[in-house]
Amino acid sequence: MKHFFFLLFVLFSCSVEARQNESALMPMPNNIVQGQGASFVVNPSKVAIYVNDSQLSFAAEKLQSVFLDRMGVEIQVSESSKSAVRLLIDSQMEGKEHYVLEVDKKGLLIKGATRQAIFYGIMTLDQLLLGDVCQTQAKKITPVKIDDAPRFPFRALMLDPARHFLPVKDVKFYIDQMARYKYNALQLHLTDDQGWRMEIKKRPELASKEHYTQEELKDLVEYAALRNVEIIPEIDVPGHTASVLSVYPELKCTSADSIEIEVGKTFNLMLCAADEKVYAVYSDVIAEVADVFTSDYIHLGGDESHIDSNWAKCKDCTEMMKREGYQKPSQLMIPFFNRIFSMLKQHDKKAVLWCELDNIYYPANDYLFPYPKDVVLVSWRYGLTPTCIDLTHKYGNQLILAPGEYAYLDYPQLKGDLPEFDNWGMPVTTLEKCYQFDPGYQLENEKQQHLLGVMGTLWGEAMKDINRVTYMTYPRGFALAEAGWTQMEHREWESFKSRLYPNLSDLMKEGVFVRVPFEIVKRDIR
Ligand code: ACM
Ligand code: ZN
Repeated sequence: MKHFFFLLFVLFSCSVEARQNESALMPMPNNIVQGQGASFVVNPSKVAIYVNDSQLSFAAEKLQSVFLDRMGVEIQVSESSKSAVRLLIDSQMEGKEHYVLEVDKKGLLIKGATRQAIFYGIMTLDQLLLGDVCQTQAKKITPVKIDDAPRFPFRALMLDPARHFLPVKDVKFYIDQMARYKYNALQLHLTDDQGWRMEIKKRPELASKEHYTQEELKDLVEYAALRNVEIIPEIDVPGHTASVLSVYPELKCTSADSIEIEVGKTFNLMLCAADEKVYAVYSDVIAEVADVFTSDYIHLGGDESHIDSNWAKCKDCTEMMKREGYQKPSQLMIPFFNRIFSMLKQHDKKAVLWCELDNIYYPANDYLFPYPKDVVLVSWRYGLTPTCIDLTHKYGNQLILAPGEYAYLDYPQLKGDLPEFDNWGMPVTTLEKCYQFDPGYQLENEKQQHLLGVMGTLWGEAMKDINRVTYMTYPRGFALAEAGWTQMEHREWESFKSRLYPNLSDLMKEGVFVRVPFEIVKRDIR
């Protein structure tokens, strides 16, 4: 009798259910056609991997580890183009992230125009195997054809080692998970009031005790690039600069002459717009940042400047304002950033800035639009993304979406949950709320063309270590990954809810500290 029930259980749970292979896909691909006929049997004595381009050696290794981890089989790489498993660069295919994955009884093919596209095909295969438990145990792959490309070209997360330092090994660990969910950019917030985390060789005094050496950063950039993640450095100016001002007090406005800076306790100061020494320091900084990071972009912050208490009260800034014919101290943002932008241009870099609409909160900060057209903006202030979308559309800037209400992953996931302290009187951003994020805000197509994609931010005040960072990231990081990759017509909350469990447990197996979203099972728990 006991055996009967066991058999029934096996038969039931392993009955060949056509869509079992979709049960762990994350983000959901945009085009899946289930195949017909027999499965592909992964027999290591008959099956080998062929790649048609030497840039695919990392992809081939990744695929070998997928077969080993999921099926326990060791598959060799072969020179024979007749091998049953093929990874092919196909330069005729459109889109650098577009891949096709085809499984039939004879084999497996993943193709794309770039190694990045093929890497994404392998990530999808990994999830097909994760979901299709019984087939995978039997070392078989269900026939399927997936033809997939992302909704948005930019899908990022942001870490803040300025507030709590994160060693390189932890950032690499974080990148490992990001790559699985097809994130392709990591912004590193390297400087803030609480610390400066990058070695600057010409100005070694800038870096805090805990910081990244340039050698470490170059290694990190390479590590990320192999996993198709671009690192975008952020050097925040002209606010969020207490750590710089503690090293170079002469860069403060005259209004702050008497302020003794205590790093970690002093906030709301700014670099003086009228002091040439500021530009000399940042010219050195930008040169080295541009050299270490391969991204075309450097993020320059530009957020939360307290102009009223700095530039507006500074003798030198107010003189400069008059000299240059500006009416308001906020307009000094124009010459200030023009100087820094020209430094970026010298190194062939483009600027990203947080999109400030904080004239709503700080009426003196009405410098704002128009930003120069070639500056990419990031929308972030709670509730103001629709306005940012409108304004950037009007003025011709590209926009990345990190709206506070969906994408600020430092906000708690449930009332009473971590983090331990409430940084901003943070509202709760539940997983379900996060999943409701449509980066296109249901706008007509023409009004979405300037939207580059999405970014989830892990502001670090309460992120004391990598475990806290990953706990705050997952599972909401799945929701944002899907917001960035998957067209709205293929997104569905009930489907997402069921697909997240195998992914959460798989992350746990990798030693990733995650939050189990028990509230989505029993809804009245809130
Ligand atoms: C920000 O949250 N200060 C961009
Ligand atoms: Zn000043």
